[in-house]
This record gives sequence, C-alpha cells and structure tokens, in this order.
Amino acid sequence: MQWTRRHLLGLEELSAEEINFILERADSFKEVCTRPNKKVPALVGRTIVNMFFENSTRTNISFQLAARRLSADTLMFSKAGTSIAKGETMLDTARNIEAMGVDVMVLRHGASGAPWKLAANVSCAVVNAGDGQHEHPTQALLDLYTIREARGRIAGLTVGIVGDIAHSRVARSNIWGLTKLGARVMVVGPTTLIPREVEKMGVEVCHDMDHAVRECDVLNMLRIQFERQDGTNPFPSIREYKQMFSLTAERLARGKPDLLVMHPGPVNRGIEISPEVADGPKSLILRQVANGLAVRMAVLQMVAGVAAAS
Ligand code: CP
Repeated sequence: MQWTRRHLLGLEELSAEEINFILERADSFKEVCTRPNKKVPALVGRTIVNMFFENSTRTNISFQLAARRLSADTLMFSKAGTSIAKGETMLDTARNIEAMGVDVMVLRHGASGAPWKLAANVSCAVVNAGDGQHEHPTQALLDLYTIREARGRIAGLTVGIVGDIAHSRVARSNIWGLTKLGARVMVVGPTTLIPREVEKMGVEVCHDMDHAVRECDVLNMLRIQFERQDGTNPFPSIREYKQMFSLTAERLARGKPDLLVMHPGPVNRGIEISPEVADGPKSLILRQVANGLAVRMAVLQMVAGVAAAS
C-alpha cells in the first residue's frame, strides 16, 4: 500500500492495513536505532515542532529524538513562557508558528479533539501526541509493536487493559488497534472506572483481576489518573484498589508462564503495579519506550512525506 494520510490523529480512523504498514516501517527504523550512527537524512531541511500544552516526559522526548534522528530541525513549544499565558488561542499560536515554515506539528493537548481542530486549520501535517481522554495513537502503535515483537503476532492473543479505562486515551487507542489486528481485548477494573457501553468497542468487561491474570497473554497496566477525576472517588481507598487490582508478584505468578506485562508510564509504583513486577523479567516497560522511538520515526517520515507532496 501507499501511505496517503497527511495527519495521524487517531487509530479509530485507521484500517488494519494502515496500522500494519506503520509497524512494518518502524521495523526498518528499529534497525537504524541499533547502528553506531543512528541518524538518517530522511527529513533534512524539514521542520517539526512539538506543541505540548500538557506535561509529558516519554512522548515529548521520544518525538524530539525521532525528529533529530531523521535529521529534521526541531522546535519545542510549551505553555510556560509563551503568549498562551497572555491569552493567545491554540489556533492563533499554531498559525503563527506555521507561518515560519513548519512541516509537522506534534500536538499534546488536554482537550479531546484538539488535534482534529488543529488539522482543519493548518496546512502542515499534524500528529496527535495525546488529546484529553480521547486518543494517544503513537502510544498504542508502540504498544502493538512491542506485543508483536515479543510474541510474534497480535491476532489471537488475549490482552487485558487494567485500571482507569474511563479516563484513559491510551486504553481507547489500544482498544481500536488491538481489535482491528484481531486480538481479544478485556478491560479490567472497578465499575466506576469502566465507561458504560464500552462493549460496543468490541471488548469484554471484567471486574475480577485474578480471572484476567489467568486468561491473558499480555496485561497492560494503566495509571490511575487522579488529576482527571472531578472530585469524586472512584473507589473507597487506594488500599482497597490495590487489593483488588494491583499487579503484584504473587498475583502474576498465578498467570500463564509467558504472560507479559506492559505499562505506558508514568508508573504509580506500588499502586497499579508493584516495583518488583515493573522491574521484573516479564516487564516490557522500557522496551515499550525504546520501540516508541522507531514507531515515531516511522510516523513522522510518513506524514512529512505526504505533506511535502501535497
Ligand atoms: N505514556 C506517555 O504518554 O507518557 P508521557 O505522559 O510521559 O508522555
């Protein structure tokens, strides 16, 4: 196939063929990342700006490094110290930055849908680096890449996404990607953290962590997003949540021998996952981060190519 999309906004709108195309392109960049000289001239003369209106460590640094490895010029924009603080809107800011000759904007924003609004108002390529509680497509792509690399396939595997599904853009993008590629997906957590009618996305709902541990080939543990809760407690206490849903070494030992553990980060150590599991032999957490670089190099190269041709 030929990649024709100028923007990467969400996995809901991508076909299985498009997702596989990105993963295959990432394979070649993974190889590049193992060379002594990790830089390729794919985007010489192009400019990529990271516009981060929300905090980030992994995604921000990974996109910056990916752009530099592709030999693009990179710019970093965050709310602090800019005219956003004087009341300038996101779109006015973006149009001003675009006027300086930017080819790709990578946007993280707290408002669901912000990347779609940006894409409709600029002529450069737009990549969604996480919008509100909606989508985080490159996180899901790197998760898919990591599962495929570790297990050789995605179709037919049972993947449990555990924890704060209701507030999680990572969960939503993973559900779209995993179901399109033929995985069985189980969302696991207390009723208060599972969105109503989530089954319509093609997933099973499970409130019993021990059942999920026995059933799953991969467990993707999500952080409880305390900052997104509107003053209501979704469970009686952290102690109770840990008892029911935390992935401890004892619980993990009752799963399949080849059960793998993932987490998008940042990790609340000792809440959703115990430190010995996060750092243990079944954990793919740092492999996810490493693979994110190759996946984001693939995405930036593909969208920049379409933007240049149109
Ligand atoms: N996984 C993820 O999006 O992490 P950051 O918020 O640090 O980018």
